Amino acid sequence: NNFAVIMAGGVGSRFWPLSTTSYPKQFHDILGTGRTFLQQTFDRLVKIIPQDQIYVVTLDEYVDLTLEQLPKLSSEQVIAEPMGMNTAPCNLYAAMLINEKNPEARIVVAPSDHVILDEKVFIEKLNFALEESAKEEKLITLGIQPTRPDTGYGYIQFIEDEENDSELKKVKTFTEKPGIELAEVFYKSGEFLWNAGIFIWHVQTILKSFKENLPDMYDSFKTIKKMLSSSEGIEEMRRVYGTVQFISIDNGIMEKAENVYVIPSSFGWSDLGTWKSLYENSEKDKQKNIKRGKPILTYNTKNSLIYTSQNKAVIVDGLENYIVVDTENALLICPMDKDQTIKTFVSDLKLNK
Ligand code: GDD
Ligand code: MG
Repeated sequence: NNFAVIMAGGVGSRFWPLSTTSYPKQFHDILGTGRTFLQQTFDRLVKIIPQDQIYVVTLDEYVDLTLEQLPKLSSEQVIAEPMGMNTAPCNLYAAMLINEKNPEARIVVAPSDHVILDEKVFIEKLNFALEESAKEEKLITLGIQPTRPDTGYGYIQFIEDEENDSELKKVKTFTEKPGIELAEVFYKSGEFLWNAGIFIWHVQTILKSFKENLPDMYDSFKTIKKMLSSSEGIEEMRRVYGTVQFISIDNGIMEKAENVYVIPSSFGWSDLGTWKSLYENSEKDKQKNIKRGKPILTYNTKNSLIYTSQNKAVIVDGLENYIVVDTENALLICPMDKDQTIKTFVSDLKLNK
């Protein structure tokens, strides 16, 4: 009864200009491991979930790319969204389709942009979560000990229960992407975990939660299976998709639901969401620089990440704490701590086209 849903429809705009709408970050091998983020996510999950029960949800335009990178999947296992409406619709859509296959399904939801170093522990936590998800109506997430007041994550506070030494903790508050002041308070208090963005739930539990917390969305999707069985139905589905609320699973469900649980976990997790996170998670040279692509020469330059996908020389002199990324179509030069702002640059660029 174990299923997996890999969410792979984000555009990864904070990784611009390497990640672009035509080739988003999950399809890149940014770390140079030989496998893309999407492939690594699949490789991890296939160790505990039957291959034919792993689904990828992505946008229409990435379906071919997905099948190319994961040739073991049948086309039925790639769920195509006509447009990106964020992760709530993506999860509802997947849950409804999986419910048609197996109403007893237990689902692991995984993002496609993570690094996990300790797979053994990761698998242990997932197995435990899958077992727990079948027992009661629980929405389970994995929680990571924060290492800085990052504003790019969800923060989870759980209830300490002396009498209950289970690894599974009831969640008290879930705050998606707080502002910097709040993030600092959360971080300093030592009481909060980061939401790893990996969820485990029974298909009936998540469907019920959508019905309660996002009832309009639930109603819009109710007839999706029927819709998909005819060509007029597919047109109808595409129309419906564009009318639902654009909202993440975190804001739409996890912040609101009562039955949220967290499993504190430590498996060498990092979300490679931004250039800064890539910088922090990669090996640096003596000047604390990371240089990718050849040849790159640096002088009087420290704590910087310099990346080129082009076959040309790059010389940098006098930069500290900077990101420099050169690709065929764009050049980005920006302070390291503006990593979350790159999203805004990308939308400004669209307006100026
Ligand atoms: N299919 C589909 N459709 N996938 C999507 C869509 C969509 O519209 N939007 C995003 N995704 C995919 C992304 O490709 C990624 O793999 C995953 O969903 C999560 O989206 P992100 O955009 O990367 O979310 P985030 O990193 O800002 O925040 C989430 O993850 C953090 C940890 O990495 C939240 O869950 C946070 O609470 C969490 O801390
Ligand atoms: Mg992410």
